[in-house]
Amino acid sequence: MPWNFQEIQDQAKTEAQAVSNRPDLEAFRLKYLGKKGIVAAVFASLATAEPSQKAAIGKGANDLRKTVEGLIAARSIDLDPTTAMDERVDISLPGTGEALGHTHLLTQTMQEIIAVFERMGFVAIETPEIETEFHNFTGLNIPIDHPSRDAFDTFYLDAEDPSAKGRRLLLRSHTSPGQVRIMKEHKPPMAVIVPGRVYRPDAVDASHSFMFHQVEGLLVDEKAQFSELKGLLTEFCRRFFGPKVSMRFRPHFFPFTEPSAEVDINAEILGIQRKKWLEILGCGMVNPKVFEAVGYPKGKYKGFAFGMGVERMAMLKYGINDIRLFYENDVRFLKQF
Ligand code: PHE
Repeated sequence: MPWNFQEIQDQAKTEAQAVSNRPDLEAFRLKYLGKKGIVAAVFASLATAEPSQKAAIGKGANDLRKTVEGLIAARSIDLDPTTAMDERVDISLPGTGEALGHTHLLTQTMQEIIAVFERMGFVAIETPEIETEFHNFTGLNIPIDHPSRDAFDTFYLDAEDPSAKGRRLLLRSHTSPGQVRIMKEHKPPMAVIVPGRVYRPDAVDASHSFMFHQVEGLLVDEKAQFSELKGLLTEFCRRFFGPKVSMRFRPHFFPFTEPSAEVDINAEILGIQRKKWLEILGCGMVNPKVFEAVGYPKGKYKGFAFGMGVERMAMLKYGINDIRLFYENDVRFLKQF
């Protein structure tokens, strides 16, 4: 065997230990791995080697090359630790914490509306989304032939109302059935708000959705008058939209309130130019027929009620022009609020 590989490897290790700077390391590399280096010489000797020794020489050359490469890598790190940065933890880098989400704009808006009324003494109560015809319509003095009771205007379930034979359950089309439920269960005085989802089989467009949110309000006592309702809603709008908002109470009709009104707010104040007045809620004095339907003694109580659309309020307050944005859950939209 013309090569003593053990000796060459020992020699390389000793030389590598002695290297103390980059130029020396480069010289060491060239001596072993360069074109005219020792490893190349060993491979070149294969051409003239005894056939019986060729395999051992080839293996010896490869082992030597690997050993020298390892020595160079190790000494390179010793000479300049930053070349090994990949292997280290840089404790000066900022951490990678979990990104925190937040409540949806509609939830925030509902909570804001609820908070204003709670500060004025109202109590928030949730009532079911699946309702009976009595709570959604009949108890509210909405007659059997009213168009909103048509199958095209209300989502009926394929399930019978256990309290009324042959009548189907439905998805509530407003939060007003909450009034009927709460009055059936409690005696006045009361001041409640009922937040929640409502459903109407409307075609979806920029201002309509088959599901949206309302906040219902109801106050019942032995005395209650329209001026108080007006004062309450005026104060609510100032707190919700800001002190500069102006409002208009416009006469309207609802079967469950008498007299009734719709409230518009001045949209110009909010920087929306399309229309000067925008409707935000319906309201009125509770119709005595509703008190009768819930079993209150005739003539004993007075009350007022209102129902507002939460999407509408949020769209006006934050300048959102398409209701569908609330439900698409695109984080680029949600992140802004
Ligand atoms: N429920 C009515 C609607 O959805 C709003 C309303 C509530 C009107 C309470 C008067 C009193 O349009």
